[in-house]
Amino acid sequence: MKELAPRNRTITLNKGELSALKHKFYKLEKMSSIDDIKGKVICQDLFLCMHYLPEKSIDLLIVDPPYNLNKEFNETRFKKMHFKDYYNWVDSWLSVLISKVKDTGTIYVCCDWQSSSAIEMVLKKYLFVRNRITWEREKGRGAKTNWKNCSEDIWFATKSKDYVFNVEDVKITRRVIAPYRDENGNPKDWKETENGNFRVSFPSNLWTDITIPFWSMPENTDHPTQKPEKLIAKLILASSNEGDLVFDPFCGSGTTLVVAKKLNREFCGIEIDEYYCALSLKRIELAEIYNSIQGYHEGVFWERNTLNKQAPKSSSNIELNGDNQYEINFG
Ligand SMILES: C[S@@+](CC[C@H](N)C(=O)[O-])C[C@H]1O[C@@H](n2cnc3c(N)ncnc32)[C@H](O)[C@@H]1O
Repeated sequence: MKELAPRNRTITLNKGELSALKHKFYKLEKMSSIDDIKGKVICQDLFLCMHYLPEKSIDLLIVDPPYNLNKEFNETRFKKMHFKDYYNWVDSWLSVLISKVKDTGTIYVCCDWQSSSAIEMVLKKYLFVRNRITWEREKGRGAKTNWKNCSEDIWFATKSKDYVFNVEDVKITRRVIAPYRDENGNPKDWKETENGNFRVSFPSNLWTDITIPFWSMPENTDHPTQKPEKLIAKLILASSNEGDLVFDPFCGSGTTLVVAKKLNREFCGIEIDEYYCALSLKRIELAEIYNSIQGYHEGVFWERNTLNKQAPKSSSNIELNGDNQYEINFG
C-alpha cells in the first residue's frame, strides 16, 4: 500500500482486503429478481449482464458513464468516438436500462459539455426530459486557448408524468448577508440562529455548492472521476423515497451505492473493474460506521466548506490503522 500523508483520508485497499472483497462480487448469468440484486455490486461488463436485470424494477437510475473522452479507468481505457458513434453507444445501453425502470421511475445521466448533446438526443427518444442541472466543479485545468472547464451537466428525465420529486428534501441553506425584516422587525424569509442568519431556498438547476472529493475528505478514493456524495445525495433525496431501489450501471468507486445506503434506499451497481468493485464494497462497509454526507447535515444542504464532522460509530471489524486509513478486518 502507498504511504499517505497523515491527514490524507483517501480510501485505499490492501491486498488482503482486495482478495477478501472479491468473494463478495456478484455475477448476473440468468434472469434475476429484485431480491437477487438488492445490495449487490455486480462485477461484470454492463453489456454482458444488463439483459438479466429484472424488468420495471428500478425506481431511480443514476448513470455516470464514461464521457466522450480518452480516459483510463484502471485496467480499461475509454476511447473518444465520433459524435454518431458515441450516440449509438449510449443508445445501446440506455434503451435496455430504460426497460428495467418502473413507469414511475426517474433517470439522471451525468455528462460534460462534449457528451451532453448526444445524451440529450438519446434521452429524448424514449423519455420525458425535464431539466438539465449544471454543477460547478471547482477543479479543472486552465487552458491557454479556451475557457477552463469548470462545470458538468446532469440530465433529468422521467418515464412518465407520474414521478417522485421531494422538493422539501433538497432545499438549500444559504447565509444571509443583508437580511430584510418585516414591518414588525421579524426576519423576512430567513432564520436568526446563534451561528448566523440563514435563508432556506428552493433548489435551482445551477449547483454551486458542490466540492469535488479531495485527499483530506473521508469519501475520497483514487478513482479518476469519482462523483461527490453531496451531488448524488441531492438526486437521491429529490427523486426517490426510503426503501426505493437506486441503480447505477457504471458505479466506479460506488458513490451512488454508498449514498443510497446512507439515505436508507436499496441499491445495486455494475462495474467492470475488479479494483473499483472492491472499493465500492469497502465504502459500503465503511458507511456502517461513517454515515454522514459532507455538506448535508440534519436534513439540510449547506453551502460549500461548511464544517460537518461526524465521529465514526464503533464497529468490530473496521479499524483505523497507523496510516490513518480504515481497514476492514476479515479475520
Ligand atoms: C465515470 S466512471 C463512474 C464514477 C462513479 N460515479 C464514482 O463516483 O466513482 C465510469 C465507470 O464505468 C466503468 N465502465 C466502463 N465501461 C464499463 C462497462 N462496459 N461495464 C461496466 N462498467 C464500465 C469504468 O470502469 C468506470 O469506473
